[in-house]
Amino acid sequence: MLKYVTATIKSNERIASGIYRMALDCPDADLRHFVPGQFAHIKVPAHPELLLGRPISLNEVHAESHTAVIVYQVKGKGTAALSETEAGTRAEMVIPVGRGFHLSAADKTVFLVGGGVGIAPLLTVIQKWPDRHYEAFLGYRGIDYAYCQNDFAACKAVNIASDDGTIGEKGLVTALVERRLKELVPDAVLSCGPPPMLKALKSLLEPLGVSAQVSMEQRMGCGFGACATCVCGVYGKDGLDYKKVCVEGPVFDLYEVAL
Ligand SMILES: Cc1cc2nc3c(=O)[nH]c(=O)nc-3n(C[C@H](O)[C@H](O)[C@H](O)COP(=O)(O)OP(=O)(O)OC[C@H]3O[C@@H](n4cnc5c(N)ncnc54)[C@H](O)[C@@H]3O)c2cc1C
Ligand code: FES
Repeated sequence: MLKYVTATIKSNERIASGIYRMALDCPDADLRHFVPGQFAHIKVPAHPELLLGRPISLNEVHAESHTAVIVYQVKGKGTAALSETEAGTRAEMVIPVGRGFHLSAADKTVFLVGGGVGIAPLLTVIQKWPDRHYEAFLGYRGIDYAYCQNDFAACKAVNIASDDGTIGEKGLVTALVERRLKELVPDAVLSCGPPPMLKALKSLLEPLGVSAQVSMEQRMGCGFGACATCVCGVYGKDGLDYKKVCVEGPVFDLYEVAL
């Protein structure tokens, strides 16, 4: 159940270039029914001028110890200030927010496709539904930006691509997906990453009729449905429509969103 809580930062460490991992102790949050793809809407501590919370996906959830882990990239003022916040600091947040990924019992073979910070939310999928055949496809800018790749060890295969070839194969992560699809068509694909990656993925999967979901990392304001900052275009039966990512997402059917 979604709740406004005060958490305590247990640790906050740099794990790659401009990328940080923060563990949060959230004794008042209800994390038992957490769904992968849900996020924390976190207020930056000690910066009252930064009025709005920042949406960051949950990268690990340990309900029994009330611990949530987020992985974030420094982009602007809020995430820069977050990266300087020390362990022991209290942080206000709403958690867990949004509609996450879902897998049915028939989804036995699953591809996880992530690019950059979009890799972070995919890890909880394996935690939540450990009994599937997973293959991970992870795209990084280069080795300096690589994080969490070893955490996907429970997958049957971990395929890595980077822009400069310093980790995995040089090129786009979608090229690895394209090659693997010639051998194996999965029951479902779960993805998160930059729009060009999502577009390429959609064009590979749509002709094969593979069920696919995407977590949209849209610019957000209020985080609770009041401001419409976060809308994304979706194709409905009457043409193009708009949905609020904070309350109707962030996870959508990949074929529904206008990329
Ligand atoms: C559902 C969801 C999950 C996300 N998960 C992650 C994650 O796991 N790791 C990660 O590094 N980033 C994630 N992002 C993106 C992250 O929220 C932004 O990078 C961050 O809010 C930027 O804040 P800032 O203050 O540093 O930047 P600024 O540009 O200074 O922020 C100004 C305002 O714009 C909003 N904003 C700016 N960029 C984004 C953006 N891309 N998405 C949403 N709001 C934005 C901020 O919330 C703030 O209100 C996620 C976004 C969404 C919507
Ligand atoms: S962020 Fe305000 S409506 Fe979604």
